Amino acid sequence: MNILVVGGGGREHAIIKKIKENKNVSKIYALPGNGGIARDAECVDISATDIKKIVEFAHANNIDYAVVAPDDPLVLGAVDALEASGVPCFGPRANAAIIEGSKVFSKELMKKYNIPTAAFEVFNDAEAAMEYLKTAPIPTVIKADGLALGKGVIIALTREEAYDAVKSIMQDKAFGKSGDNIVIEEFLEGPEVSVLAFTDGNVVKPMISSMDHKRALDNDKGLNTGGMGTVAPNPYYTEDVANVCMEKIFLPTINAMNAEGRTFKGCLYFGLMITKDGPKVIEYNCRFGDPETQVVLPLLESDLLTVMQAVTNGTLADCEVKFADKHACCVIMASKGYPVKYEKGYEITIPDEISNSVYVAGAAIKDSKLVTSGGRVLGATALGESLDEAIASAYGLVEKIHFGSAFYRRDIGAKALAAYKE
Ligand code: AMP
Ligand code: GLY
Repeated sequence: MNILVVGGGGREHAIIKKIKENKNVSKIYALPGNGGIARDAECVDISATDIKKIVEFAHANNIDYAVVAPDDPLVLGAVDALEASGVPCFGPRANAAIIEGSKVFSKELMKKYNIPTAAFEVFNDAEAAMEYLKTAPIPTVIKADGLALGKGVIIALTREEAYDAVKSIMQDKAFGKSGDNIVIEEFLEGPEVSVLAFTDGNVVKPMISSMDHKRALDNDKGLNTGGMGTVAPNPYYTEDVANVCMEKIFLPTINAMNAEGRTFKGCLYFGLMITKDGPKVIEYNCRFGDPETQVVLPLLESDLLTVMQAVTNGTLADCEVKFADKHACCVIMASKGYPVKYEKGYEITIPDEISNSVYVAGAAIKDSKLVTSGGRVLGATALGESLDEAIASAYGLVEKIHFGSAFYRRDIGAKALAAYKE
């Protein structure tokens, strides 16, 4: 089989390595991929959002199955276009990807179907939003409606910060048209859990839970990033919490999408907060998370391509989705200065014997050498019988990898370890 994977980050590298385990796979193309992915797939210089070229490429290269991994091509309708031209795909169509593409849509969906989430108001007018903020409870959370490269959420700790957020999103258009509408919502407290789930619209099969570390620096200090590391499973996702989530969140969400004529097929990501009133949805993503995928897929014992095809065919009920009873830890190595300003072009050395545990995100090939080309450069993932063991092994991998201007958090998994000891 010829497989096409759209995207070019650490998440896509993890998906590609897992798909490669299937013996029927003869060739994998990554569009655009990256310098590190090039070890595992043929990278083709086509942007993940150039849907016309992606479809043309699929035809010219006899693609049997496509996986569309990032949010923007999904929201733009890459799956619709590939399917219309006869290529079966993993990922939701645009009318279902809107669950991530529009926060106003997802909040209204949760309200209509009684799915627990933070209380909220929607505004399309900055003055009305400012007026509301005069008496809103503080802290408050302000979210741009559309995709904003993961930066469209502002937690305002003071009223002034809240006014500034509205000004920046709605008046200065910090995120362009994504900020034409905003959601202002209740500030929730509690540990966060990420749950990625396979769904074909009939059944939902959650993957092993995980915990992201979004801030740039140790002890959750510094700016929000795309994610500096992950562990799986998440200790806060107990069996009781999992049962409540299935009954009150997961099934109601896929039923709601069906009722709206927007059947979701693919990986639905539930960003949850475990509040004192129970689990609530912080956000939905219409795709695998990054870097959650880099700890979840290494623990998957079932064949990924088989599960993906069952999702596409609507036969997920009959397909086993099994995870190892182990722990995983992924430490992201970034370029110093990320997420603001950083240098690129440094040579990366990864010893051959550990390259299978490394998921490359921001690297390019220059003069046949692998060099840094992005903020998040790569993730090193290790498994262990215990979380301690997984963490120690992941940092052991990090010590063997070198590039100029490298930096990483030293405390990935510390919060989860403390939770086990609570
Ligand atoms: P998002 O970009 O939607 O993943 O949001 C980024 C982060 O903002 C989340 O991971 C949470 O830590 C935080 N966040 C979002 N919404 C809320 C909320 N209503 N209350 C508290 N924190 C929130
Ligand atoms: N790690 C969070 C995300 O993928 O959106």
